[in-house]
Formats: sequence, structure tokens, C-alpha cells
Amino acid sequence: MTLRIAVVGTGYLGAVHAAGMAELGFDVVGVDVDEAKVDALRAGKAPFFEPDLQPLLERHVASGALRFSTDFASVTGSDVVFICVGTPQRADGLAADMTYVYSSVEAVAPHLSNGALVVGKSTVPVGTATALADRLDSLAPAGSGAELAWNPEFLRESFAVEDTLRPDRLVFGVTSEGAEERLREVYATALEADTPLIVTDLATSELVKVSANAFLATKISFINAIAEICEITGANVTQLADAIGFDERIGRKFLNAGIGFGGGCLPKDIRAFMARAGEIGAGQSLAFLGEVDAINLRRRDHVVNMTRELLGGEVADRRVAVLGAAFKPNSDDVRDSPALAVAGALHLAGAHVTVYDPEAAENAAKIYPTLEYGTSAMDVCRGAEVVLHLTEWKEFRALDPVELGAVVSTKAIIDGRNCLDTDAYRRAGWTFRAMGRP
Ligand code: UGA
Repeated sequence: MTLRIAVVGTGYLGAVHAAGMAELGFDVVGVDVDEAKVDALRAGKAPFFEPDLQPLLERHVASGALRFSTDFASVTGSDVVFICVGTPQRADGLAADMTYVYSSVEAVAPHLSNGALVVGKSTVPVGTATALADRLDSLAPAGSGAELAWNPEFLRESFAVEDTLRPDRLVFGVTSEGAEERLREVYATALEADTPLIVTDLATSELVKVSANAFLATKISFINAIAEICEITGANVTQLADAIGFDERIGRKFLNAGIGFGGGCLPKDIRAFMARAGEIGAGQSLAFLGEVDAINLRRRDHVVNMTRELLGGEVADRRVAVLGAAFKPNSDDVRDSPALAVAGALHLAGAHVTVYDPEAAENAAKIYPTLEYGTSAMDVCRGAEVVLHLTEWKEFRALDPVELGAVVSTKAIIDGRNCLDTDAYRRAGWTFRAMGRP
């Protein structure tokens, strides 16, 4: 019989996971407390921009295989309930806010039956799964046989559908053979395609996820620290990354120096990991992540300082065009976006900042309503005294430096992502600054 799957939380992770599960042939219900989001999803509309998600939603909502609800009772009868809610940074410190994870498990527990497996996917501090298993034991109906497992998610926004359907590895944190069997059923397609699988305990599965993100963040901050050295010595960090990247032990991926990492995962995950390490008496083990965070945030200040320098020392009342608002291209996610942080800092310093992003302007305007938003790159660059390229959308790479040069008031540009054609800009008479390279 087709497995019945529930997915709690329909954000960047849950909505894609629900659609992916329907694509794999399961009967799926997505549950969220956000009515607007559920209404959009019910109509087969993606509530955010993610390549390839829309057609999946349309197809499976239309066939009835994928349904959405705000009522937790709709998980009744599910074989597997995935928990995909957010764990944002707490307002009062570095730790993760676990409210949504606990409230979701508490809300679904009374509706479970027939050995339902609750599977956590959210990124959580180590120890959470064991605590949740206890909650489940006390809240699920007697004899329901409900059980908890952990199955961390490694999808990247902007490749989320691809990563969900064809993951590069699977991790099952389980406490019984039954739970492993159930997860093997869910991921049968990926396992048949020889996707590597690690079956482990709950704590290891939780730590795999935060360790992976901590490593990625460290890799980016490593190359950005080297970029700082290159900036002083006149060396070229891009060539350096190519050269060290050929060493297979190092690898070229995630060695792109620039304005640093942002988004809803890496920044808050390294902070929550440090906070948790402190709680368990191992603060020193992860103290280096504080440095990773500091290097990352310095990149934003660096772009602000470079902008000031290009403007002759004064930004107040000067016209700055910002290309990009999303934390990375092919996404409308602006959570902890380096691009927006830079735009916001320049605005606070008195600059007249106009921002263009192909998809993220609406979300950006919600958190930075005082910035001005334009409808195209050309539009925001008109009259600009300096242009900042801060999110590497493909359309920005395709801009013609000669045409762009004709609309700005001063031909000065900072490539915060090191991916524009330096020579073409310089040939067209631009003052061109990049990150960690001449
Ligand atoms: C990250 C991880 O890559 C996923 O594996 C993980 O599942 C996800 O977090 C999560 O925890 O949910 P994501 O936040 O989508 O995925 O973004 P990344 O592709 O990791 O990029 C993060 C930031 O690093 C972006 O701002 C990007 O511009 C920046 N970056 C990336 C660099 O500055 N340099 C690089 O070389 C690579």
C-alpha cells in the first residue's frame, strides 16, 4: 500500500520535501499554522521562489496526491510524519529557538496511531531528538506505537528539488530496526540508485547536520581570511583558490571569496552549535566558530569601507546602486543576506541606496522598507556614483559594461562575488574593485 506521509512546516524545507515525497509516489499532506502559505499551496502555488518547485506542486495538488492543511488532525492515519519547521536564532542569544519543533511534535502526538514514525528533519541542537522521543512517549495515545527518528536534510536552497529527489547521502538516526525499515521504504528510489546511507544513533544524526554546515562555513571563512591577506599583499585569492582546490583533499567547492555567507542556515547554525557546546561543557571545542563568524561579518564591513573609499570618504547623500538582495542567486530568501546587510549599512550612513534583485525585492522590502527598490539593473544604476554587485545572479554577469557605463554617473563598481568580467569592465573605463584580488 502507498505510504501516507505528513510534512509539518511548509517553509523552504517542508514545502519542497512535501512536493518531493508526492513526486516519489506517496500520498502526502503538508501542515502549517500559516494560513496564507497553506492557501497558496492548496492552489498549487509555491509561496517562495525555488527553481522546479512550481510544476511539482501543480501536478501533485491537481492529482490529489498532495494536500495542505492548517489542522494538525490531518496527520491522522499517517505512516510517517516529517518535522520540517524552522529553528531560527533566539532573540536573546546565540542558541536556536526550539519553540516550533516542540510545539509541532506536541501538536501531532495525540493524532498518531499504528506505529507512526515521527521523523525530525529540522536542524537542532544535539540532544533534542532524545528529549522529543520522551515527549512523544508521554503525549501519543497509549498503544499507538509512535516512535521518533532523525533524518537530517542537506538540501541547498536554489537546488532544493534536485537535492530532495537525488540526495548525495542519507542519514538515518534510529533506535529500532522498524524505524530503519520504514525510512528505507520512504527513500527506496534513492537507495536503489546507490545513494550512500549511514544508519546511526539519534545524537550522531543531529551532529552530522550541524557539523556539515559548520565545516562549510569554516571553508568560506577560511578563504575570506586569506582574501584579507591577499588584499594587503596584492595577491589574487581566486587564482589561489584554484591552485589549492586542485588538491583533492581540499577541493575547489565553497572556496569562493566574497562578501561571505548568509541565509537561514549557516550563520544561525554555527551560533547554535557554539551555544550548545557551551551548555554541554565543551565551549572550547567550538570556540573557533566564533572566529569563523567574525571573519564572515568583517566581509560586509569591508564592502562598506571600500564603497566609502571609492566615494572619496563620504557616503552621505551619495547614490549607490546595489545589484542583488537575496543571500544567494536563484532564491528569494533574504534571511541574514550579506547583500542586504551592506545595502542597509550604507543607507544608515546616509547614502541614497537603490536595490534590484530579480526575485527577492518583495521579501527585502519587508525587512528593509526604507531602501528604494528598482525594476531592473539598468533602472537602479541610472545616475549611480558606485555600483555594488552583491548577489551573483546570472543576469548580472550578462550586463554589458559599456551599456551600464552609459547610465551611471561614475563608472565605479565593486564585485562582491568575484564573478564579473574584470577585463571587460576595465576596458570599458570602469574603476573595478573585487574581493581579495587586484
Ligand atoms: C546550506 C548547506 O549548504 C546545505 O547543505 C544545508 O542543507 C542548508 O544550509 C540547510 O542547513 O538547510 P543554503 O543555506 O541553501 O545551504 O546555502 P549555501 O549554498 O550553503 O550558501 C550559503 C552562503 O554561502 C550563501 O550566502 C553563499 O553565497 C555563500 N557562499 C557559498 C560563499 O560565500 N562562498 C562559497 O564558496 C559558497
